[in-house]
Amino acid sequence: MMMMRMMMQTIVVLVTVCLVASWAQQQYVIMTPGVCPDPPTQSNFDIKRFLGIWNVYECFDTPYIFGMTCVQMVFTQEDDQTQYIRMQIRGLRDVEFFGHSIWRSSVEYDGVGTVINSTYPAEWSVLFGGQPEFDRDNVNYYVLSTDYDSFAVVYGCVRPSPIAIKIETAMILTREPNVKPKTLDFLKYNMKSWGIDTKYFNKISAFNC
Ligand SMILES: *[C@@H]1O[C@H](CO)[C@@H](O)[C@H](O)[C@H]1NC(C)=O
Repeated sequence: MMMMRMMMQTIVVLVTVCLVASWAQQQYVIMTPGVCPDPPTQSNFDIKRFLGIWNVYECFDTPYIFGMTCVQMVFTQEDDQTQYIRMQIRGLRDVEFFGHSIWRSSVEYDGVGTVINSTYPAEWSVLFGGQPEFDRDNVNYYVLSTDYDSFAVVYGCVRPSPIAIKIETAMILTREPNVKPKTLDFLKYNMKSWGIDTKYFNKISAFNC
């Protein structure tokens, strides 16, 4: 009886892992073994100064952004709802024919970030439309570092199953498109020291936007 139950549990875990793995592969997500890190965030974070339009300079592969160029993140807030941050990802998708864009469409995805504890305003629970609701109401998104005027680094991590597998997202954001942050190497060095593997960063193309 005991044996039977253990076998059933093992099968359930294996099926979960396979489902998540195939979902991850289709969606181009960064899924790796291990638990989510607990990185520090920007000290004295001032959300009002952080709001507005950011250009995605580099990011981890995510289903939303795959194949997009000229990607921007737009953060907005209602004055009387300071615990919520509206998050929009917008960009362009090109249909190419022999290396030339023959059709271009703009794409937009909407999400919402919620500050779970106002003592930590740079730690949010983020949910995008259509995303599986892993870790709802838990902190899964961090503003790691920003100077508000030129660069920001954001990081997200969720655990989709009871076993130690994590799905990560990260973005280097810049106010000006195509302007490499002066401190990029230092920012990545810090991320590595917090347990975030920066090899997954890819440059986002931002030409003829
Ligand atoms: C927010 O965080 C502080 C400091 O860690 C903690 O004392 C407090 O209980 C938390 N508040 C809530 C609502 O969880």
